[in-house]
Amino acid sequence: MENRQPHLASALVEHISVGIIILDTALHIQYWNAFIDRHSGKSLAQAIGQPFTETFPEADTPRLRQIVEQARNTGRHIYTQWRDNPTLIRLSFQRAGQSPLILQSTLLFPFRPSPEAPLHFGLVLYNTTDLAKSSDKLEAAMQALGVKQLEQEQLIKKLEKANDQLLQSEKLAAIGQLAAGVAHEINNPIGYVFSNLQTLAGYVRDLLRIVDAVEGAGSLDDLRQLKRSLEYDYIRSDIEALISESEDGIDRVKKIITSLKDFSHIEEDEFHPADLHRGLNTTLNVVNNELKYKAEVVKEYGELPEVECIASQINQVVMNLLVNAAHAIEQFGRITLRTAHEGDWVWIEVEDTGKGIEARLLNRIYEPFFTTKPVGKGTGLGLSLSYSIVQKHHGRIEVDSEPGRGTRFRVWLPLRQPAPTGESPTPHE
Ligand SMILES: Nc1ncnc2c1ncn2[C@@H]1O[C@H](COP(=O)(O)OP(=O)(O)O)[C@@H](O)[C@H]1O
Ligand SMILES: [Mg+2]
Repeated sequence: MENRQPHLASALVEHISVGIIILDTALHIQYWNAFIDRHSGKSLAQAIGQPFTETFPEADTPRLRQIVEQARNTGRHIYTQWRDNPTLIRLSFQRAGQSPLILQSTLLFPFRPSPEAPLHFGLVLYNTTDLAKSSDKLEAAMQALGVKQLEQEQLIKKLEKANDQLLQSEKLAAIGQLAAGVAHEINNPIGYVFSNLQTLAGYVRDLLRIVDAVEGAGSLDDLRQLKRSLEYDYIRSDIEALISESEDGIDRVKKIITSLKDFSHIEEDEFHPADLHRGLNTTLNVVNNELKYKAEVVKEYGELPEVECIASQINQVVMNLLVNAAHAIEQFGRITLRTAHEGDWVWIEVEDTGKGIEARLLNRIYEPFFTTKPVGKGTGLGLSLSYSIVQKHHGRIEVDSEPGRGTRFRVWLPLRQPAPTGESPTPHE
């Protein structure tokens, strides 16, 4: 039994489809198996005792010396793979009917044939074509995945851009709507300032007549007569009233214009610490015309610290909520604008006494183009854009509505925006 073992071992080595080469300590070839014969086209009989690098000149590289050195020093197996180009030795000899060994991996390991013998090296070469192929496939799949991801990122960018454009166009539409209201609002003071100016022009003419009369007047009595006939006392008191009324009118126009300017801030697109109450007041001024015939507006402001936000966008959100609130009120109602500060968060609330939202519609109101309003009145974009603005601010919108009673929208905003890579904080409850 015992003497059959070497025989079995060498039979195995001859039949295995792995190349095996044994080198002595000086890297001279001592043995190789039939696989090497087949795939190198060289014969063991000629190679035996020859330096390895003479038989396989392509292996005579610094890399071979390096891995031999490493194996000698560490006593470890050193693996080189098909990706290491070129492979350590080239077994590309092809016989008819045999496929060439295109890709191969090599294992070099030190061993002692017997305890006293000098260190020898075993070289195992095996075909890794299939492995390489599947690895290539994997790599191709990974690359395809990478391309897909890139496409997706581009798509997301496009969507973001479209969203921005939508935001801009909704803003323009809203501003168009507002312009009509503002025109109406400005028309009234401008109208009476203009008529006051006309009255004043008449008064000035009369006053000039009195002054001019001083030159040619025969007596002081004539002048007194003229003064009386032109109703000087009335003119005098009316002038003051007209001027102060006109000043008020111009003041109102100025306020509206300043609010509009504050409100739009078209060029502003960055996060800055802002006073939200100032924004709310500005927005109220701007939408006042839409609100005043529909509701009494009640402000219940809390104490707010500055909030890092894009103020013009938050204005737009509040404007959408206010206009929606006014639209929801059929006759005349109340709109309450509330604010509060809780920990790292603030909230803005718009509550109305309008007709409310049916429960089945509650999860649709943020959908773009979802509207229950007649054509021309609603675009269905207000809430969807408000939602995306609030999301961009890492905040959230809550809605609470009872049909027939009213609706309350609450916008939560964090005081500080997270660093670009950081996690977004969760709202304080
Ligand atoms: N305060 C509110 N009260 C009742 N319904 C509301 C209120 N706010 C929004 N809605 C409902 O949500 C829908 C979508 O609102 P929005 O996106 O602003 O679009 P739009 O105002 O152009 O219709 C409205 O058509 C309305 O049905
Ligand atoms: Mg709306």
